Amino acid sequence: MSTTMTPPSSPSPTSSPAGAVAANPPAPTWSKGLEGIIAAETKMSFIDGAKGILEYVGIPIDDLARNSSFEETVYLLWNGRLPKRAELEAFTQELRGNYELPAGFVDRIQTCPKAAAPMHMLRTMVSSLSMYDANPDANDIPTARKKALAILGQTPAIIAAFDRHRRGLPFVAPRKDLSFAANFLYMLNGKEPTEAVTRAFDVCMILHADHGLNNSTFTARVIISTLSDMYSAITGAIGSLRGPLHGGANEEVMEMLNEIEQLAKSQNKAPMDIIEPFIMDRLARRNEGARIMGFGHRVYKTIDPRATFLKTFSKQIATDTGNLKLYEMSSRIEDIMKREVGAKGIYPNVDFYSATTYHSIGLKLDLFTPMFAMSRISGWAGHVLEQLDGNRLFRPTTKYVGPHDAPYVPMDKR
Ligand code: SDX
Repeated sequence: MSTTMTPPSSPSPTSSPAGAVAANPPAPTWSKGLEGIIAAETKMSFIDGAKGILEYVGIPIDDLARNSSFEETVYLLWNGRLPKRAELEAFTQELRGNYELPAGFVDRIQTCPKAAAPMHMLRTMVSSLSMYDANPDANDIPTARKKALAILGQTPAIIAAFDRHRRGLPFVAPRKDLSFAANFLYMLNGKEPTEAVTRAFDVCMILHADHGLNNSTFTARVIISTLSDMYSAITGAIGSLRGPLHGGANEEVMEMLNEIEQLAKSQNKAPMDIIEPFIMDRLARRNEGARIMGFGHRVYKTIDPRATFLKTFSKQIATDTGNLKLYEMSSRIEDIMKREVGAKGIYPNVDFYSATTYHSIGLKLDLFTPMFAMSRISGWAGHVLEQLDGNRLFRPTTKYVGPHDAPYVPMDKR
């Protein structure tokens, strides 16, 4: 039975269905990829892409990497100031009180296929945490902050539990007497890490914590702007981060270094002897979308200050752990890129030297991006809390380039 209905008068493109024109909407700005568009205010990270400056709440990233801890950095990002000693102690204890996974959650992790990619596992398991929360949708700031702390505290155990599961090793329970960095490495390897390795990992966590409105942080803010929930926002952000143009780049950097080593071996040459042709070939294929991973940045048009710090740091760690060759290959790639595309503002970003650092402290390649996520949960959560404090639904518009007044052609006439 066909029903003919008189459709409501369809609103013209510029007016709302009610027919009223929205009061003074700002003139739409068109910028592909939202390049250069301010979409939020924040008090956490300040970035000057031209000068290569990154500050967390006004403190230069270099000073924090040299002097702070991940726990203190998270307190700074979430509270807008450095903690007093007693405040840091209390926050540290609160975080450590969240190291343990909910009852039955390790069993859930151990049902994951051992061949699952860690970032797909992480996105799925962090999302699953919401089912163990009696009140997952609560978005008042104090409760949302508690959820953020729980996700931040439990994520290391999720990653470590999965990695041991896929290696056929038993789960190692967290230890509340260990720092965030030491506890993760302890749960992963079943033994306490050395001071030097713990410090290296802690510095990596500091450097990756927050970075303005990068794609994954924007994702988290967009999701929470519908008043969804912390778990959905963090889950969406993990999905964004795994992309090779974003957090996935650190794994791609290591893949590239491995590819150079394999190619050199197949040609009976030393890796250092084939780096120049390898990089030049990739650069020649730029227009086909080929990229030298770990280089370039939407905002930095000079070297990423995190890469500057990580370069020095990775040389020390690589030297101490017998991986100096990897560092030398990376440094050679940096020299070639500086000569070829430095003038275009293409320099190393945070992912380039973090690859050598993570490899040198013994982390498996496919755990590099989960490391990025483990730290960036603090930044994502900080932005979710900022978004909740004075929220406005994100709803940009489009530049419509399709047809108008098109006829509905009956099937037998198509
Ligand atoms: C992170 O946003 C953040 O803050 C992210 C992050 C954070 O902390 O959250 O800093 C972390 O994601 C760092 C970026 C990791 N990604 C990579 O290393 C992947 C490789 N990099 C590129 O894909 C690229 O540089 C982007 C995606 C990072 C930024 O790219 P843009 O701003 O979209 O620039 P583009 O791709 O349009 O390139 C502009 C020009 C092009 O040349 P032309 O076509 O103008 O001749 O620069 C070239 C590109 O070919 N170019 C590169 C290059 N990056 C840019 N050429 C070779 N290798 C590269 N890596």
